[in-house]
Amino acid sequence: MATSLKKTKSVWFCSNCGNEYSKWMGRCPACGECNTMVEKEVVTGGKKAPMQVPGESRRPMPLKEVSTTQEDRISLGSAEVDRLLGGGIVKGSLVLMGGEPGIGKSTLSLQLPLHRPELKTLYVTGEESVKQVKMRADRLGGDASNCLIYSETDMSAILEQAQEVAPDLVIVDSVQTMYCQHVDSTAGSVSQIKDVAAQLLRFAKSSGIPVILIGHITKEGTIAGPKILEHIVDVVLQFEGENRGAYRVLRSIENRFGSTAVLAVFEMTGAGLREVANPSEMLIPMHEEGLSGTAISAMLDGNRPFLFEVQALVSSAVYGTAQRSATGFDVRRLNMLLAVLERRAGFKLGQKDVFLNMAGGLRITDPACDLAVICAVLSSNFDYPIPADVCFAGEVGLSGEIRPVSQASRRAVEAARVGFKRIFVSSYTHFDQKPQGIEVVKVADIPALVRALFK
Ligand code: TYD
Ligand code: MG
Repeated sequence: MATSLKKTKSVWFCSNCGNEYSKWMGRCPACGECNTMVEKEVVTGGKKAPMQVPGESRRPMPLKEVSTTQEDRISLGSAEVDRLLGGGIVKGSLVLMGGEPGIGKSTLSLQLPLHRPELKTLYVTGEESVKQVKMRADRLGGDASNCLIYSETDMSAILEQAQEVAPDLVIVDSVQTMYCQHVDSTAGSVSQIKDVAAQLLRFAKSSGIPVILIGHITKEGTIAGPKILEHIVDVVLQFEGENRGAYRVLRSIENRFGSTAVLAVFEMTGAGLREVANPSEMLIPMHEEGLSGTAISAMLDGNRPFLFEVQALVSSAVYGTAQRSATGFDVRRLNMLLAVLERRAGFKLGQKDVFLNMAGGLRITDPACDLAVICAVLSSNFDYPIPADVCFAGEVGLSGEIRPVSQASRRAVEAARVGFKRIFVSSYTHFDQKPQGIEVVKVADIPALVRALFK
């Protein structure tokens, strides 16, 4: 008697963060976004095909018997992309490359195989025609002899061709245009996106062929898109930056085979994306000395220190309530810092509009940036320019104290190398080695900072 145990049931996904719920909710409890629930039918109880990594035992085994040879990695021919991935792409891994439309995802993903013709690459395009890709390839230069281009959006056809061609690398542009026939919804829906990614993951794991999957993400991140996939894929690379500017920042935000919070900077040129090996030089915009409202922060990207500019504009609020806006920085943290300035150091900013901007469209989460933020705000408020050879690295606490940050000496060494003469840090900073060629100014709290800087 063969009875099927398969059942279908409805579940709800938050299209912003990808969390799953058994019922609809107006507001996602996980990420707090409203109206993001999307319904999906799932089949339960059926037998699932096992996902097995080739060459790995499917029985429990003693941990000490697991061999620790390095994962097999393939260089993609771009030093910066290889570094982001932790030393090349791991065989059998699924890498998601997300970013807003027009930021350069297709350009970078086509540039990789063109500049590394040793790799046989299958480039699947669901967005552009074969002709359009060819025109772009001509513009990018390089050697296209080992790059196969395939215009298709049906996943079963794509997987069949990928098996047959057996390339070294598969690129799929983009997840939103692909569809699986057995899923009953249009391309780009939550169910389709999840299934497309799951099928590619299974293909990558079973064949050992790495796959780069491109996904669009909007500024609000509200449409069904890469956010849902972050838990499925092995690596998430995300483009940041302003589409209008020439610079693009690619950041690893999740990586099962390497560190995260690593970033690479590219410049969009007439012939594709050029690697910018030293981000400090791009992130400190060149302008006339003596402008108020800017401060330079000494930051870390993974392990690599770099410097970049924080810009603030403080002006009297004309329409009643003061506005606070921050680009690339958490506005709640900005409000916290402004409250600290008000309560702990007596600066009256309650009736002022405050606008904050991180240079180059970077998104900053490192608390070491706090010190530069408050200095930029104070500099704009008093219209007092901060000397061009001064930079900052410190976290600000709720009682106005300045806290030490990690790897202060590496930050100071980079600052000295780029030409800075003074770095402001917390009094409690410990240096393994005294940095050469730069004066270290130690400050304990905001009043001490103000005395030392605006004297
Ligand atoms: P694209 O890679 O198509 O973006 P995405 O795939 O993320 O949507 O990049 C599009 C932009 O890049 C477009 O505005 C044109 C510009 N571009 C250049 O400036 N130089 C080039 O060599 C190429 C190929 C594109
Ligand atoms: Mg594209």
